[in-house]
Amino acid sequence: MTVHIGAKPDQIAQTVLMPGDPYRARWAAETFLEGAELVNEVRGMLGFTGTWKGNRVTIQGSGMGMPSLSIYANELIRDYDAQTLIRIGSCGGMQPHVGIRDVIVAMTASTITSPSSGIFREMNYAPCADYGLLAAAVRAAEARGTKTHVGGIYSSDVFYAERPDLDEQMVRHGILGVEMEAAELYTLAARHKRRALAVLTVSDHLQTGEALPAEDREKSFGDMVEIALEAAFA
Ligand code: HPA
Repeated sequence: MTVHIGAKPDQIAQTVLMPGDPYRARWAAETFLEGAELVNEVRGMLGFTGTWKGNRVTIQGSGMGMPSLSIYANELIRDYDAQTLIRIGSCGGMQPHVGIRDVIVAMTASTITSPSSGIFREMNYAPCADYGLLAAAVRAAEARGTKTHVGGIYSSDVFYAERPDLDEQMVRHGILGVEMEAAELYTLAARHKRRALAVLTVSDHLQTGEALPAEDREKSFGDMVEIALEAAFA
């Protein structure tokens, strides 16, 4: 047990998928894992452990934003020895060629601040994905025929942005989408020599204002979960 995770040490797998939404953790565990067992419900941040094709997997909610994800990722890494951490979540599309329902495999994650900014001081560190996981996710997505984009994303601290100029600079520099967690996950994985990746589904689009209808979400999010699982065990 840790401060925020109630699981016993052997109840967390070395491979952890991390959706922001704890209910999505439950849905993904019930849909894709065999023998899924609830292993954490501290603060309602549900976590489940089961198997996928015989491999042990935990699906643990991270909450929204980098400070929340940092708590769960730190405890999973330090106290439960998680080796592979894959964020699965939604993002806002930022380029005209990136459509609703498309998948983004995030090679890098830009930020203006993160929980790690304090340690980097004047350094502009570039958080990046584990290449082996990234390549495996791209192969899995291609094999499924899922429309997938690979490139940089923007991990923002705010959903309700008051600085449209920041989004404009991200768009201008080819950033594919915006979410709120990946940069800190990549930074923590690098610090502790673990593997990390973010596989995201475009749920809304900053330029067109389009948003994924509720009834389409499950199928689209399902592609992302299976791509993440295939990448983890490739
Ligand atoms: N901004 C930040 N995070 C998000 C968004 C967004 O537009 N969409 C999904 N996650």
